[in-house]
Amino acid sequence: MNVLDIIKQEHREVSALFDQAKKCDPDDDRIHELATEIEEKLSTHLAIEERLFYAQLRSRAEEQDEKVDMFEAYTEHAAARSLMDMLNSGRKPDEKFKAELQVLGENVAHHVKEEESTVFGIARDYLDNDELEAIGEAWEKAKARKKSVRGTTTASKAKTRR
Ligand SMILES: [Fe+2]
Repeated sequence: MNVLDIIKQEHREVSALFDQAKKCDPDDDRIHELATEIEEKLSTHLAIEERLFYAQLRSRAEEQDEKVDMFEAYTEHAAARSLMDMLNSGRKPDEKFKAELQVLGENVAHHVKEEESTVFGIARDYLDNDELEAIGEAWEKAKARKKSVRGTTTASKAKTRR
């Protein structure tokens, strides 16, 4: 699968979760579940994206404005991570929690828009179709590995609790 299609699909999945959270009352426990799911999906997405996709573009981009665009994308990832750290307090959902999650959602929506235009444009200029497909395959493998690691961690955590 072409990496650009994978990225678009993951973007849609995360934005659907943000939409669901927006409809919840601030004290609804469901908001906490959604936030956890968003954090998991988003951290995996950002990590794989930087390692397999951005690294390629960063080393190939030749124009100054393209380099600035790539740093902007990295900076937006860093901003998303610090907003996720803010949320990651395990506290009971309340108005402040919902507000912080919404700010994260707005930031991610902005990033997605720019990424799918600017970053994708750079990708189409510097990577041919075979390369986009190869990165897509590597992406799916990395994601499957992350999932199996997470499965193991969850299982061992469950054991400790008993
Ligand atoms: Fe991104």
